[in-house]
Amino acid sequence: MGAAQSQGSGTGPWYDESTTHRFRQGLLPIGGTYAVPAVDDGGTRGGTSSDEHMNVDKVNSMPTDLLGREYETFPAPEPLRQHGPARIIAMCNQKGGVGKTTSSINIAGALSQYGRRVLIVDFDPQGAATVGLGINANTVENTVYTALFDMSVDPHEVIHATDFENIDIMPANIDLSAAEVQLVTEVGREQVLASVLRKVRNEYDVIIVDCQPSLGLLTVNALTAADGVIIPVAAEFFALRGVALLMQSIEKVQSRINPRLEVYGVLVTMFTRTLHCEEVLQRIYEAFQGKVFHSVISRSIKLPDATVAAAPITIYAPGHKTAKEYREVARELIAKGIVP
Ligand SMILES: Nc1ncnc2c1ncn2[C@@H]1O[C@H](COP(=O)(O)OP(=O)(O)OP(=O)(O)O)[C@@H](O)[C@H]1O
Ligand SMILES: [Mg+2]
Repeated sequence: MGAAQSQGSGTGPWYDESTTHRFRQGLLPIGGTYAVPAVDDGGTRGGTSSDEHMNVDKVNSMPTDLLGREYETFPAPEPLRQHGPARIIAMCNQKGGVGKTTSSINIAGALSQYGRRVLIVDFDPQGAATVGLGINANTVENTVYTALFDMSVDPHEVIHATDFENIDIMPANIDLSAAEVQLVTEVGREQVLASVLRKVRNEYDVIIVDCQPSLGLLTVNALTAADGVIIPVAAEFFALRGVALLMQSIEKVQSRINPRLEVYGVLVTMFTRTLHCEEVLQRIYEAFQGKVFHSVISRSIKLPDATVAAAPITIYAPGHKTAKEYREVARELIAKGIVP
């Protein structure tokens, strides 16, 4: 478990009010020698063969990531010879709008293009992942809600193919908003999603559960079903506010229900090359150290564009820098053995 956990709950120096004051006053050092990335923005950047998110530290010419960690790129993954059973990943942060759904869709997009079979479980009544993959949430008959509560329905019947090879989805719509209350009286109420996913796990290499922005019973179900958690964090003021609470929930699920649950990583999203974002990035690194993914996702209008087009950015605009950044996250997941 990362440094954040060892710093306990609620009073970590990385997010409290005094930290933010010192931030504002410019009293906190940006720390280390991490370098500002070379300018690489603006629209689709086709034509380059390189698939790297790296930065050359001007002092010693060592390739580094945005945090100054020595890093070149993860290797292009080998194709898989056989599929399943899936690694189950909960995409989780109770803070809203940090990029959970965008990251679920785009990591799925990248993994699918590396030949991994991916199931996205939309576990948010807003149904954003469902819509974002081109499925009309209001016309689907069976959703994840059906799978949770109707024992007569085989979870396979709830899975929909998308237009994208290797990506299936268990969709959600507003029906799921009733689940939180209904689960309270269910037998084994924290384990309901786990028992659903057990039945489909063998057909996929990775299952990504896109959580809603809350720490309620649905999220506890996701954490109980998961092997690990990816925490997307937006590079903005108060980015880490509430993360201590999330870490507490993860610890509780670990100690009481699901001891194998790991924190796979913290993914920094919506990064822009401003001093502010760089300071936030540094704070996130101080809290989570090696758990921070090397690849940082830039803020780009291309990502909402891809959502409107209902496609992963890695397919919609494969040459765009955010597509490369998400591919690099996929590579890191595979290189670290988190995903087969
Ligand atoms: N890197 C990015 N650059 C620009 N916009 C982004 C980026 N990532 C996500 N967005 C946009 O920010 C909004 C919130 O993103 P997203 O829906 O992925 O967050 P979320 O954590 O799933 O939100 P919620 O908590 O509501 O489920 C969306 O409109 C999305 O298109
Ligand atoms: Mg979402």
